[in-house]
Amino acid sequence: MCGIVGYIGKKNTKEILLEGLKELEYRGYDSAGIAVLENGNFSSFKAVGKLINLEEKTKDFITEKFAAGIGHTRWATHGKPTELNAHPHLGESSYVVHNGIIENYAQLKEKLINDGVIFLSQTDTEVIVHQFEKNLSNTKDPLKAFEKTIDELEGAYAILLVTKAQKDTIFFAKNGSPMLVGVDEDNEKYFASSDTPLIGHATKVNYFEDGDWGYVSNDKIVIFDKEKKEKKPTFKTLSTNKLSAQKDGYRFFMEKEIYEQSNVIADTLLGRLHDNEVIFDEFDKSLFDGINEIKLCACGTSYHSALSATYLFERYAKIKTSVEIASEFRYRNPIMTKDTLFVVISQSGETADTLETLKMAKNAGLKTLVICNVDNSSMVRLADACILTRAGVEKGVASTKAFATQVTVFWMLSLYIAQLKKSIEIKELAKQISLIRHIPTSVKVADTLHEKIKRISKRYLHGHGFFFIGRDIFFPLALEGALKLKEISYLHAEGYPSGEMKHGPIALADPELFTIALLPQHLLYDKAKSNVEELSARDSTICAISAMEFDKADDFIPISTCQDYMLEFFEMMVVVQLLSLEISIRLGNDVDMPRNLAKSVTVE
Ligand code: AGP
Repeated sequence: MCGIVGYIGKKNTKEILLEGLKELEYRGYDSAGIAVLENGNFSSFKAVGKLINLEEKTKDFITEKFAAGIGHTRWATHGKPTELNAHPHLGESSYVVHNGIIENYAQLKEKLINDGVIFLSQTDTEVIVHQFEKNLSNTKDPLKAFEKTIDELEGAYAILLVTKAQKDTIFFAKNGSPMLVGVDEDNEKYFASSDTPLIGHATKVNYFEDGDWGYVSNDKIVIFDKEKKEKKPTFKTLSTNKLSAQKDGYRFFMEKEIYEQSNVIADTLLGRLHDNEVIFDEFDKSLFDGINEIKLCACGTSYHSALSATYLFERYAKIKTSVEIASEFRYRNPIMTKDTLFVVISQSGETADTLETLKMAKNAGLKTLVICNVDNSSMVRLADACILTRAGVEKGVASTKAFATQVTVFWMLSLYIAQLKKSIEIKELAKQISLIRHIPTSVKVADTLHEKIKRISKRYLHGHGFFFIGRDIFFPLALEGALKLKEISYLHAEGYPSGEMKHGPIALADPELFTIALLPQHLLYDKAKSNVEELSARDSTICAISAMEFDKADDFIPISTCQDYMLEFFEMMVVVQLLSLEISIRLGNDVDMPRNLAKSVTVE
């Protein structure tokens, strides 16, 4: 997730912007920049990598008088992490910073290029400043030009724009990406994409709502709502606890990241779903020329999303698919054929075992694709093609939103390949695309659900172990639920295909064996139900997760009646994530930094 800061006033604008960007480092970034308009002159600096590189570039830059400045830390979604792609982006006489994704940027960019505009970057953001200046040349009125520009944008955005056409002013717009404005005792104004940069400066803040836009000048804050009616700022007192502010008030980053899944999955979808078509503009479809098989390779949670993909690829794309655990694949002298597309999956893009398998595939002459959350990571740089999951930085060691966005990408990719292979009817494709659009709704956390899971969790703090069981694509979800619980509660848990119980594991059944049973209504329900009844009949304690009432369960966590098993998958994913979170919290563990674990395993 990118970070945005802005300031307008007489204090040291450069320092305020740089300090603000430092407060946003926890969000993760790969480049940064600032632009300051002082006395009608712009000064702008950008740097790739850590903020210290930007500080080095600005060390001789002094701001002493009244100025308007904007700053940005970039988490690459469109275009590599380079200085040219870093924000702020310049038009002729204006700068812009932006967080989010402009879904119709390609269409706007094409028209602007036809009008003779020269683009310097590969980003969607740069479209905003050129579109503004195009509108300014027609309206001659900066506010009207800004209003028209915002009307023309589709997608999610938090925008700050400064222009020589209206010097002592910062224009803003917010839709789908967070942003707030704060005021200090001297009535000076501060902008940021989250609370932390304003702590220690602003005494009161106004959190913009979706559709809000307007401008801030030396003596006023003018806000218009989405109906273009002027509205008064609604000021709140700013929290003073930075760490709590970084967690947006949640108890742990993992909890925050579970709640973020709805928004980040919406980002994952942006620009990739058209009415009846899945589009990936990150690579050419020729990547799949000559490909008859897909082999996926990963570790841990990423392995679980890869295992999920095998069901989707074979069911929709009708392509032979297999999955490997990277640490095993590395040393078993595998047979690799050039008609296989080798796909590695990694949140960090740095996991040693997975990276080594990617090198093996490249050395064997296979085409390679990486599904990753961190642009410019080792795997992204090495693979032939990359699909970014756009989950934003994931601070919790126990992965949640990375898994959710990986499975989302795989669902889209299975349809993309099906389009290429013409292995899916148009009607079915349209139905699947409309289901995918529903994922952000499916993963929204309802208070009632979270409260219920909090209450139930008190019963699962001991016992001699957990089975998480599921059939078909719910088996990888069972594995993922078991891993989540192990990682942060330190209780033993195993994921199993439901149908395996009678082949040995059921010997463990007794009241101290807790079975978390995934019972989707729309996929093999009756078979899964009878497997659970085998355990229940032997007095195992059952916690059933289903849209269908199940009277043989000791605990029952309801999900909504969904149109499709994949939406049940995502709802149950949230349940098992929250269950492990609440059990771990009751046990007093450090949810975000569990013992013995690291966020990225860069060693064998
Ligand atoms: C997930 O909760 C774990 N932290 C771990 O299994 C992780 O998924 C694994 O180490 C792979 O990491 P990667 O996705 O960054 O490659």
